[in-house]
Parts: sequence; structure tokens; C-alpha cells
Amino acid sequence: MPGNVSDIPGYTYGASTVAASSATLDDLQRLKISVDFTEQDERYLRMAGTVLEDQVERIVNHWRANIIAGIPHLARHSRSLDGSPLPDYLARSNRRFQQWILDTCLRPYDQDWLNYQQEIALRHTSVKKNQTDNVVSTSYVPYSDILAFLVVLNDTIKPYLEAKGHNESDVAHMHEAWRKSMHVQMALWAKPYMEIESSSLEW
Ligand code: HEM
Repeated sequence: MPGNVSDIPGYTYGASTVAASSATLDDLQRLKISVDFTEQDERYLRMAGTVLEDQVERIVNHWRANIIAGIPHLARHSRSLDGSPLPDYLARSNRRFQQWILDTCLRPYDQDWLNYQQEIALRHTSVKKNQTDNVVSTSYVPYSDILAFLVVLNDTIKPYLEAKGHNESDVAHMHEAWRKSMHVQMALWAKPYMEIESSSLEW
């Protein structure tokens, strides 16, 4: 199991409380083919996992404290409705976000992974946002903002992939595998968003 996950608040990967994904393993296979995600990409993601393992705290801080916190229409999703900070919400979801980096790189993309993809997506929607940490904040993160922010995740991960002295080719392959995984994940997240009755409102 990647990392020590037992002390991560609200992290329920593989638990029986996580519903089965409405996307199937066949759907996942189809998406992998569409983005050309191969066994080579799987190997380079494992390499990326070992490279990123001790950097996940810094990476998530980079995304959330250095970037999201400075963009009001994004920052509000981790705050109370009056804009005041919710430090525990941030700290707890940061821990899960950090673990997701390791899960992306080191977990097999099996049924548990697929189920947790749906769970994470739902935790950004009005179906589940705020519940894990029992907070009052915005009711959902618009899907369009998530998709747009993907560019930032993809760009900013590069220096962290370079940080352990791998050659240019290895870094390029790790980066490519990361980007393909991000695309597959965002395609998967689109499904629960589209299944929400009020989906047009959460775009
Ligand atoms: C770019 C793609 C994104 C990825 C891959 C991502 C990933 C994650 C992960 C892994 C978690 C923790 C899930 C869990 O509970 O185990 C999370 C939670 C959260 N994310 Fe994102 N996120 C993305 C975009 C965003 C954006 C743009 C925002 C808004 C600024 C955002 C706001 C949040 C919030 C508020 C939570 C806590 C949700 C809750 O109430 O449980 N995320 N995210």
C-alpha cells in the first residue's frame, strides 16, 4: 500500500463504504486505449511515484497555498461561505490530496481505484462535498474549474519529477505518463458530474 494511510482523516480507499463506480473496468480499458496509456506508462508512473513520494506535501502546498489560495473563485471552495478560512478542512483534505498523488502513481488501476475515482469526484460535487470533514463551505467545485486547473497540475509537476536527478528521457516519460493518467481521471470524473440531476448547474 502506498504510504501510511491509516492516519489520513476521511481517506476511505478500498473501504466497503465506497460505492461501486458506475464506470466499469471495460470503460477504463477503453479510456486507456484512447489516451494511449500503455504498460510503459504504467512503469514510468511507478518511477514517478518513487520520485514524488517524499515531495507530496510540498507539491500540494504549491497547488493549494501558492496557486489556488490566490485565485478567489477557486479559493472559496476551501473556505466558509463568508470567506473566512477553515484550516482543518484544508489540512485534512490536503492529506488526502497528497495521498492521491501516490495512488495515481503506485496503485493498480483496478476496481478499488475506479471506485475511489468516483468517490473523489463526488466529493467535489453537491452529493458529497463538505461531508467528510463536516464543514459548511461551497456546495460544489464546478467541473469546468477542475478541468481548467488540470493544466496547472500538469505543468507544475515537472520540476518535482526532475528533482531526483533522472535523465531527460526518463523525466519526459514520467511526465507523459502522469498527463495521460490525469486525462483518464478527468474523463472518469465527468461521469458522476453528468449523472447529477442538476449537472448543468455544476458545470
Ligand atoms: C485538477 C484536478 C483536481 C484533482 C486531481 C483534485 C484532487 C482532489 C483530491 C484527491 C481530493 C481529496 C479526495 C478525498 O477525499 O480523498 C480533493 C479534495 C478537494 N478538492 Fe480537489 N482536485 C482537483 C481540482 C480542484 C479544484 C480546482 C478545486 C477548487 C479550487 C478543488 C477543491 C477541493 C476541495 C474543496 C476538496 C475537499 C472536498 C471535500 O469536501 O471532501 N479541487 N481534490
